[in-house]
Amino acid sequence: MESRGAAHERHVPVLRDRIVDLLAPALEAPGSVLVDGTLGMGGHTEAFLERCPEATVIGIDRDEEALALAGERLARFGDRFRAVHAVYDEIADVVADAGLREVQGVLFDLGVSSLQLDEADRGFAYAQDAPLDMRMDQGSGITAAEVLNTYAPGDLIRVLRDFGEERFAKRIVSAIVREREVEPFTRSARLVDLLRDAVPAASQRTGGHPAKRTFQALRIEVNDELGAWQRAVVGAIDVLAVGGRIAVLSYHSLEDRITKRALVAGATSTTPPGMPVELPEHAAYLRLLTRGAEEPPADEQSTNPRSASARLRVAERTRSTQGARR
Ligand SMILES: C[S@@+](CC[C@H](N)C(=O)[O-])C[C@H]1O[C@@H](n2cnc3c(N)ncnc32)[C@H](O)[C@@H]1O
Repeated sequence: MESRGAAHERHVPVLRDRIVDLLAPALEAPGSVLVDGTLGMGGHTEAFLERCPEATVIGIDRDEEALALAGERLARFGDRFRAVHAVYDEIADVVADAGLREVQGVLFDLGVSSLQLDEADRGFAYAQDAPLDMRMDQGSGITAAEVLNTYAPGDLIRVLRDFGEERFAKRIVSAIVREREVEPFTRSARLVDLLRDAVPAASQRTGGHPAKRTFQALRIEVNDELGAWQRAVVGAIDVLAVGGRIAVLSYHSLEDRITKRALVAGATSTTPPGMPVELPEHAAYLRLLTRGAEEPPADEQSTNPRSASARLRVAERTRSTQGARR
């Protein structure tokens, strides 16, 4: 039997070649540095290390297991690759700790890795019964079971609505509250059964798996994904050198909205209307390199169904803002 690591090495990262094509021009000079803010299994990083011989990569992940496996996979690149256990909103500290003031590239491939989804015992997948954990960093934070068992009903409704865009949040939460009084939730199968009963059959026929939105919502809450992403995208733009490029792959509209807002804001002049000339401090500091959000081509979506929801946005830093507030 082949090892789990080998199986994951065969998994082709989403839009790999397109992302390398878009970021490589910023990584040609000797000493250039890419931060891969979501190292995962190191698939994108490996492609960069192969295609950009002058560049080194700092890979960040909050998941120790991912760091260990990617570290093994990338060992052949020696000191051109360094792995850092951190959350990606600490990007400014990670760059400073590496003795750098700025970097030439930043990549984020948001969400859960195939390793995390495939490992039944981490509780991310609704298809397998598992402990309701869902923490990407298993060393800290609260689990999905704790969210279900301890949150006030109003907070649970907010989580399901805001992070899962779940229309039946109220109905689902009434059922959860009823059930948790009988016995606290510990495993995913019981929650999946509850969702099958609570989500109306007509909606299950058109809206996908009845557990999809609730599982997404719990995962986002457990890992503070949107808060962390908002801080990270701002921090990443801050550490980009002029001419440096940032690429972001988002997998749901909530993440993509945050990405779009940050990149479009940077690419828009803030000169007040009616000013005869643009003051330099009002000029845009980013240039968008993708038109809107790019989707993976149809053939990639059919060979890798997880890529179907991916949206790519890429931008280049056009001027320094020297720590000015943005
Ligand atoms: C989709 S995977 C990345 C896959 C990677 N591009 C590859 O080619 O193998 C996303 C990774 O980001 C990590 N991650 C998610 N949120 C994070 C955060 N806030 N800080 C650091 N890493 C995070 C996850 O642990 C996961 O390993």
